[in-house]
Amino acid sequence: MCGIFGCILKKGSASSLIHASLKRLEYRGYDSVGIATLYNNQLQIKKGQGKIDEVHQRLNLDDLKGTIGIGHTRWATHGAPLEINSHPHIDCTNKIAVVHNGIIENFSELKSELENNGHNFISKTDTEIIAHLIEDNISKNPKKGLADAVLEAVKRLEGSYAIAVISTIEPDKIICARNESPLVLGYNEKGYYIASDIPAFLPITNKALVIKNGELINISASGYEIKKIVDSTLVSREPKIIDWTPEMALKKGYPHFMIKEINEQPLTLRNTLRLQDHYLDLISTFLDRAKDVFLVACGTSYHACLAASYMFSKLAFLPTYPVYASEFIEQHGKSVNIDSTILAVSQSGETADTLSSVTCAQQRAATILGLTNVIGSTLTRVSRVYVGQQSGPEIGVAATKTFTSELSVLAQLALRLSKKRGKVSQDEMDHLSEKLETIPKNVETIISTQANKIKKIAKKYKKAKIFFFLGRGISAATAYEGRLKLMEIAYVPSMAFPAGESKHGPISLIESGIPVVFICPKDGSHKTLISNIMEMKARGASIISVIETGDEIIKKLSDDYIEVPAGIPEILSPIPFVVPLQLLAYYVALEKGLNPDTPRNLAKCVTVK
Ligand code: F6R
Repeated sequence: MCGIFGCILKKGSASSLIHASLKRLEYRGYDSVGIATLYNNQLQIKKGQGKIDEVHQRLNLDDLKGTIGIGHTRWATHGAPLEINSHPHIDCTNKIAVVHNGIIENFSELKSELENNGHNFISKTDTEIIAHLIEDNISKNPKKGLADAVLEAVKRLEGSYAIAVISTIEPDKIICARNESPLVLGYNEKGYYIASDIPAFLPITNKALVIKNGELINISASGYEIKKIVDSTLVSREPKIIDWTPEMALKKGYPHFMIKEINEQPLTLRNTLRLQDHYLDLISTFLDRAKDVFLVACGTSYHACLAASYMFSKLAFLPTYPVYASEFIEQHGKSVNIDSTILAVSQSGETADTLSSVTCAQQRAATILGLTNVIGSTLTRVSRVYVGQQSGPEIGVAATKTFTSELSVLAQLALRLSKKRGKVSQDEMDHLSEKLETIPKNVETIISTQANKIKKIAKKYKKAKIFFFLGRGISAATAYEGRLKLMEIAYVPSMAFPAGESKHGPISLIESGIPVVFICPKDGSHKTLISNIMEMKARGASIISVIETGDEIIKKLSDDYIEVPAGIPEILSPIPFVVPLQLLAYYVALEKGLNPDTPRNLAKCVTVK
């Protein structure tokens, strides 16, 4: 999730305005920054690694000349957060500059094709191919205008993008295009502003127009024209007046970052399906060769590892040990050796306990693999191979969208490994891959159809002194995560167990009216789970079930139920099933008058042991 900004001003400095606007987009990414302007028919570019303030201190981002320009604040997806990978990217002739937010899935094929045609690449990014594609279109047809050359280029892209392009070929224009990644136009009497998000230009203008998927916009000082990429038909759309405060704009109109991030999950899950094959392949190759595989993480990331241990076992017949990073050295330190592989999972990539486990394992010659949301974090530097989960920065302290993305990456790894090992039939593989593609839509459905019901459930149980969360099999991991969310932001003491364990002790706590949340996908453990529900019901518990739509049996046994679309395969079920639990925790916190974004005593990144 990067931030892009461009402007065409009647007068004044484009670069200082771009710099200030990028600062307001820094929440979208902050590992490198860059600006390009057009002046005297030449591109002027400054870019560097680091946060915007650091790069500005080194380079002075405000002194590029020109009234037209584009800028970018980056959250690395392809290529490390280094200066050469920072945007804007240019073509071979130094005439075209591009900034991009998104992920181009077919970039390797396009890159090879362009390299065969003589194009020279400088960075490791997917974005750079866009500049070269535009250059290629213009060199093949010099009479083609810039907008047409961009149009032809984006037609060849697969994946997500919001791009802004400037060029000495038509130095009075910015051409932008969008597929999935956000893009908004703002304007006033002083100029035109194009950005990933409204906060970027809100202090300058509140007149905004959303560019939709599959549209290209051609902006000049005298106006703009929007057309459909597919058939070039013109689009007319009225701007809206935005009456948000800057604070509301940053949260996209949501009252808290947590609910904004819960709602972002359909998008982040789509992004997580666009991982680079190469890295997934490499990691699954290492996993295939390993003798012992330890899945090491803390908190929410540990729950992702717990779910992953079921995925690896069921799909690839690979036994793995999910371990709390804070216990790893004591529990397994001495048994780790050259044949061991550690898959460390950490959204921040900086959690002290996770990094200590990695250091211990490294000293014992184990192979370190990483899964993280922050490319350039310590975990990426110490891993033999790592993969980024593509969730974009998460600001709410409670992990939500980063959890579901971790689960999605781990499921993709399990599928790869399964294929490598020939453990699952091609039909089954195809079925699972198709289902994985539908998960973002399922999550969208859950949020849009169940949120109001969950709000009412939260109101009903807001005074409960204790909550139970129970699930069997992989759903035990979902239960643990639901419990953590409720405890950490709503301060409700909560218990979670594999449902079968509850009668070995915890059930003695059950009294009339205690809410017990059951996670009930229709998998192999469904029947036994019904017995567990009956046991709790018999002792007076209030049953809140998360069921598949149409599960009439459990619906009848429940005091309250939340529905998830039916037909989600067992190994993918934690992704949609955890979403109602995130919402439940959020609404209970609100009912109790708490701010879910800033739970007491917690930090987003725990850098102490
Ligand atoms: C809970 C939460 C924490 C983190 C844990 C690990 O909502 O956010 O439990 O999951 O501190 O953090 P990372 O994944 O950054 O290593």
